[in-house]
Amino acid sequence: MWEKELALAGQAARAGGEILNRLVGNVSRILKKGEIDLVTDADLEAEQSIIGILRRSFPKDAILSEEAGKDEQISRRTWLIDPLDGTTNFAHGFPFFAVSIALQVEEELVLGVVYNPWMDECFEATKGMGAYLNKTPIRVSEVKTLADSLLATGFPYDIHRNSKRVLELFRRMLVNAQGVRRPGSAAIDLCYVAAGRFDGFWEQDLQPWDTAAGAVIAKEAGAMLTTFEGESYSPYLNTILAANPFIHQEMRRLLEP
Ligand code: IPD
Ligand code: CA
Ligand code: CA
Repeated sequence: MWEKELALAGQAARAGGEILNRLVGNVSRILKKGEIDLVTDADLEAEQSIIGILRRSFPKDAILSEEAGKDEQISRRTWLIDPLDGTTNFAHGFPFFAVSIALQVEEELVLGVVYNPWMDECFEATKGMGAYLNKTPIRVSEVKTLADSLLATGFPYDIHRNSKRVLELFRRMLVNAQGVRRPGSAAIDLCYVAAGRFDGFWEQDLQPWDTAAGAVIAKEAGAMLTTFEGESYSPYLNTILAANPFIHQEMRRLLEP
């Protein structure tokens, strides 16, 4: 099930990724959507290419994409697209960014593809079928304690105005984990949890297109996914905690108010 959709999502992610690789270090226009929230020509060009490929094959599906927004189509199937996750990295020539594409059918996320074109790493998963990196199966780590864990997080775009809680949670993780990283692409962070490169990831105020694909991949690789409060993960909720099952609870306790 979903073979055709997965193949097309992979093809669209690679087409978008090629555009990003061509334009990185070479962007002609950087606009500010907010004080520190950027959009470049690359976001838009990659988005057009991705949407074009998906629309040609699945004209009846709805699309929710970061820059284009939600289309008018009414459908039980929606593609959630981030054409460039890690725009700030991209704009600075820091080679850590990805295309993220997920398919939601009714309430359920059924597949996700995250493609990092710079490293040519394609993470993908379909519901119930496991997670893969360049077609090789991946699993979450088996690290048992937070003290031995490498974690990742990110900071919301209103951090200049609302930093108190974010920094408090960051401090708690920092003093309890082996290490904490802030790589700058939530989609890749989730895939790194899936591949056991990170043991856990938490972030707040992300958008559906940031987490949907990575969440399917992390879940299929054995990660536990919830909100900070322990509710089941949804791309439409405000917080996300993804971790291997051994450290999930320890992280959750630190995220309590
Ligand atoms: C951002 C990245 C980043 C996260 C931000 C996101 P964008 O997405 O995922 O890691 O910390 O909150 O908005 O804006 O580069 O697509
Ligand atoms: Ca994003
Ligand atoms: Ca983006």
